[in-house]
Amino acid sequence: MTRSAYAAAQPDAVALSERVHWIGALDPTLRTFDIILKTANGTSYNAYLVRGSDGVAVIDTVKEAFAGEFFTRLESVADYSEIRYIVLNHLEPDHTGALPELMRRAPQAHLYISVRAQAMLKALLKHDQYEYTAVNTGDSISLGDRTLSFLNTPYLHWPDTQCTWLEEEQTLFSGDVFGCHYCDARLFNDRVGDFRFSFEYYYAHIMRPFREYVFKALALIEPLALKTIAPSHGPILRDQPAQYPAHYRRLATPALSSEIGGEKSLLIFYISSYGNTARMAEAIYGSASEVEGVRASLYDLEGGEIAPFVDLIEEADGIMFGTPTINGDAVKPVWDLLSSLAVVHTRGKIAAAFGSFGWSGEAVRMVEDRLKGLKMEVPVAGLRIKLIPSDEELDACRGFGTAIGRALIGEDEQTVVDMA
Ligand SMILES: Cc1cc2nc3c(=O)[nH]c(=O)nc-3n(C[C@H](O)[C@H](O)[C@H](O)COP(=O)(O)O)c2cc1C
Ligand SMILES: [Fe+2]
Ligand SMILES: [Fe+2]
Repeated sequence: MTRSAYAAAQPDAVALSERVHWIGALDPTLRTFDIILKTANGTSYNAYLVRGSDGVAVIDTVKEAFAGEFFTRLESVADYSEIRYIVLNHLEPDHTGALPELMRRAPQAHLYISVRAQAMLKALLKHDQYEYTAVNTGDSISLGDRTLSFLNTPYLHWPDTQCTWLEEEQTLFSGDVFGCHYCDARLFNDRVGDFRFSFEYYYAHIMRPFREYVFKALALIEPLALKTIAPSHGPILRDQPAQYPAHYRRLATPALSSEIGGEKSLLIFYISSYGNTARMAEAIYGSASEVEGVRASLYDLEGGEIAPFVDLIEEADGIMFGTPTINGDAVKPVWDLLSSLAVVHTRGKIAAAFGSFGWSGEAVRMVEDRLKGLKMEVPVAGLRIKLIPSDEELDACRGFGTAIGRALIGEDEQTVVDMA
């Protein structure tokens, strides 16, 4: 169905309950979101309207191009003059695009944003006239017989993100958290198609780099007696809502640490045309494995796929990259993996680079710069060896492996090993 056919088939607001309505918009033909996400099913921009005995609150808006649908749905359940509060769970334009026009139509409405959103409001909305109240966990606003309270959930997935809890309806307006890009006009999770893929894909690309913040948010969300989770994208989760926070917890929980019993995991990735960098890698692997408390693993990038390696890196304590210099650069499989790490948390992991070269040997330094750029710690300067490693040079490789192993178990040493 085309976008306009969707909107025409269902122009009115949809009730979640007598007092809560979905007033969002459907975007079934979108195929790429924010450049980075593929959206096989399109998406939806969910916005909600809550009616209390003392007025109406609007929670989030929609992408600007969809404002028409949003206002039509809003008007089907409320007058603009009734709107007392506008709550923004997240300032990204897919949820605030219709805000300026909404403020124009409901100038009496007061804006509620998170504490961290204050620093973004003006830059995003290009408007410094808005009065607002910044709220934090525990703050609440009353609509008479309905109360909205706020849960500060930063970095899910921007610094400003928050969730809003409607106590009397046990409904959590969760913003992008528990959302997914899955457009289905049937709206509710007990009616729509199979969206499990989209839910996990969204988590993997949007929430996964912020694992620690996921746990902090879950600590606030899991104690709630949830009847409905109303996210800002994708199905409204009213059937067994608690399974979604539980699923986030599973997705965020490292699986590896229990399997290797508290040892530090070191991954050594390499690629090699004539076997020179491979020889270095094997020597490094051998000595790092001998450091007590370190579990080292060796992978030839020529024989692997990026996605499972990214998963491994997420849970690793240390990562090493071996690359020859080819035409003044590291080789593509190394860059492919290094450019795929934006979805995992790399800050603070121990990292190092090594490789064989013929004359100029730029690759190791370039990889080191990238590792530092990913906020990893590079405690030992990269090891470069000219062409075929000699026995003495292989000893230097073993020393390098040992140094990284020791850094991993906390016996830090600053070493510069460069045979060039
Ligand atoms: C096509 C090609 C281009 C190369 N370009 C460079 C270069 O720009 N700078 C350099 O130091 N070595 C260069 N080399 C030399 C390799 O880095 C060197 O042979 C190295 O030992 C290969 O290690 P490997 O067996 O682990 O692949 C080049 C080699 C090839 C085959
Ligand atoms: Fe977002
Ligand atoms: Fe969003």
